[in-house]
Amino acid sequence: MSFILALDQGTTSTRAIVFDRRGRVVSSGQLEHRQIFPRAGWVEHDAMEIWHNTQEVIGVALARADITRHDIAAVGITNQRETTVLWDKRSGEPIHNAIVWQDTRTQPLVDRMAEDGGRDRFRDLTGLPLASYFSATKIAWMLENVAGARELADAGHLAFGTTDTWLLWNLTGGPDGGTHATDVTNASRTLLLDLASLQWHPELLDAFGIPASVLPEIRSSSEVYAEIEPSSLLRHVPVAGIMGDQQAATFGQAAFTPGASKSTYGTGNFLVVNTGDAPVRSENGLLSTVAYRLGDDPAAYALEGSIAVTGSLIQWLRDNLGIIDSAPAVEALAASVDDSGGVVIVPAFSGLYAPHWRPDARGAILGLTRFADRRHIARAALEAVAMQTLEVVGAANADMGTPITQLRVDGGMVQNDLLMQMQADCLGIPVVRPSVSETSALGAAFAAGLAVGFWSGLEELESLWREDRRWESTTTPEERARLRERWQDAVSRTLDWER
Ligand code: G3P
Repeated sequence: MSFILALDQGTTSTRAIVFDRRGRVVSSGQLEHRQIFPRAGWVEHDAMEIWHNTQEVIGVALARADITRHDIAAVGITNQRETTVLWDKRSGEPIHNAIVWQDTRTQPLVDRMAEDGGRDRFRDLTGLPLASYFSATKIAWMLENVAGARELADAGHLAFGTTDTWLLWNLTGGPDGGTHATDVTNASRTLLLDLASLQWHPELLDAFGIPASVLPEIRSSSEVYAEIEPSSLLRHVPVAGIMGDQQAATFGQAAFTPGASKSTYGTGNFLVVNTGDAPVRSENGLLSTVAYRLGDDPAAYALEGSIAVTGSLIQWLRDNLGIIDSAPAVEALAASVDDSGGVVIVPAFSGLYAPHWRPDARGAILGLTRFADRRHIARAALEAVAMQTLEVVGAANADMGTPITQLRVDGGMVQNDLLMQMQADCLGIPVVRPSVSETSALGAAFAAGLAVGFWSGLEELESLWREDRRWESTTTPEERARLRERWQDAVSRTLDWER
């Protein structure tokens, strides 16, 4: 068996990617799913649509590589984290659309809970601030607002999962004995996990009113969870790796040692820094999270700077403003002017995540004059991506005490050379892109491959990492300080908008 198949269940699409022993992409299939916006601030997905898309893209990836299940040694799953699915285990039907990580409907519940102990009341236990981003309040919302949900839970029929769990359960038999499990990285994004013991914590379940019976079993990120069920194209292939997408990207970037880091440019941007075998508590607005756990080895932890809106800002330029026809077109439009003409965009569409954690912030376009046109807006949008990344790199440097000296990058937007140059320029350090930019899928493939002996260990995985391109900074410290100040000024004007 010469290949590993990774499923990358992301915020906007689901992909199946086949990797060979050298960690190279052999083939892939991809399908987008609907983004459902029932009200301002609400974002939902149809979990059934995601499951059907998953089955379809598996078929496409196998067909394009001209291979069958006999060629696949194992399957790895990586996924958008926090997005919450609740389903009836007897029928396999979700009881509601999945509530997506960006959804802010539970902010009133967050505010109520914060009255008793503040927004950091669970930080010591979980590494996370109390925020609508994580799964716990989304589960609580469904239990409260979906007719019959609480009764189903009390009767033991209800299952909760992030989309890794939803796919694993369906792939391994669904109502006919599907495995209801998640991995430690996904569990660490719920606000229900004790970061030290890596178990669900009763005090947290109690605080959010969530019965233990709905929760999946917590497993490592690299082990055989179960075999795929007999009617699937992948029947009897083991599912052997699960990692949340940002952790998987870190793993796929071979960031295995303390201090190693990466920044992924997706719907949002996520900086992850490996902190070794103990969680580091952030003093600068980052999250403490699990990086990965391989079988019975001790877990590796990480600090994370989560930025809600980066790639989705470019989609917004395309879909809501109509100033570009396609997301990649933003590069040429932005490159047609030398600067943003004084325009600054702060895309606080879901409030601001790291390092601010300000749900009250709202997006703004500042510095408009009669001179500004869509080219300046496009350029300001790319600057917003780079400047938000600068903020979380600064926070990580402060928390770690040793600065990041080069930034490994991945994700869809790293094909945008102008953005990568802007990123190096505002950071003042080199930005480095690997030859495989689908690092989330690669990380999940690595995790699955390790579990079944397809790859021998971390050293071999490290030897597979290859540099594709690097961008050096061309700015002076004074120029960087000016950029930073203008950005901070703009951010401060977006706070306290939604009261
Ligand atoms: O925490 C949310 C993150 O996992 C989503 O990632 O790549 O699907 O935007 P992505």
